[in-house]
Amino acid sequence: MHLAALHTPSQIQLNQDGHLKHFITIEGLSKETLTKILDTAHSFINDQNQLVTNNLLEGRTVMNLFFENSTRTRTTFEAAAKRLSANVLNIDIARSSTSKGETLRDTLWNLEAMAADIFVVRHSSSGAAHFIAQTVCPHVAIINAGDGRHAHPTQAMLDMLTIRRETKKPFEELSVAIIGDIKHSRVARSDVAALQTLGCKDIRLIGPNTLLPVGFDDYGVRMFNKMDDGVADCDVIIALRIQNERIESPALSSQLEFYKMYGLDERRLALAKPNCIVMHPGPMNRGVEIASSIADGPQSVILHQVTNGIAVRMAVLALSMQGQLQEKGLIEAVSL
Ligand code: NCD
Repeated sequence: MHLAALHTPSQIQLNQDGHLKHFITIEGLSKETLTKILDTAHSFINDQNQLVTNNLLEGRTVMNLFFENSTRTRTTFEAAAKRLSANVLNIDIARSSTSKGETLRDTLWNLEAMAADIFVVRHSSSGAAHFIAQTVCPHVAIINAGDGRHAHPTQAMLDMLTIRRETKKPFEELSVAIIGDIKHSRVARSDVAALQTLGCKDIRLIGPNTLLPVGFDDYGVRMFNKMDDGVADCDVIIALRIQNERIESPALSSQLEFYKMYGLDERRLALAKPNCIVMHPGPMNRGVEIASSIADGPQSVILHQVTNGIAVRMAVLALSMQGQLQEKGLIEAVSL
């Protein structure tokens, strides 16, 4: 057995110097590490709000391994890697040899032999990124782009960057409501962990009991079945899609019923603070968890999240190579 197999995801994420190596989960990372990711991402956006380009990862190879569908995450990882001048390979898993019976381990070892430096992995099984981090050579960094219902750490960090940039308030002073299918959502899990680590004291999860997780209230998070109560005086609302692909038996009577009870519409948004921002990780189901007028309205920052996603993914890619860049004396070229 590989020695790393004895370690939990949070233990293998940092190298000996305490720098981020893999990015598998928010859990176990310090406020300093999360702030470093946010500050680095921020440094990749210029005063005109445009993303910068640099050659930090020139000569490095980033491989996107998406075992599950994705639009935003895969494309923004590709855009991020290209902005850092890395080579990017998108591996077409559906047409790869895993469909001919090759084990995941063998596929990974073959890809490693093609000089991969970073694997960006999305998988429907919780724990897949952690497993892969233990399977590959020590010099290859693993970035979790979503594993089952477990974690989606780069989504959480792009959400945190969006909250920081849009509200311009410290996390300690914010009230944040997450609405919808929390139980099956890796985004909700990672968002709650990031908000707590960054000091947010008022986190509210809103949904029917069938879509709320068990045991979260032990962590100082409040649960609401009544949406009007949950959104009152909030600074940030994050709406989530119902994760039908992870629900075995119907959790709701109908989508229309869900919209009536938990859809974010104008009347409900008016209960939050007047400058409350509205977020959604996408893909969005208009008329189910959010009204079109809100998704396209002045308080929506949903498309800013997408752009911030490139900056955050640039930061995570660059930081995961930081140890190696330092060894080669490259790090001084760009102050991370
Ligand atoms: C999320 C995901 O894949 O978990 N989407 C995303 O990464 N933009 C949320 C979802 O699929 O609902």
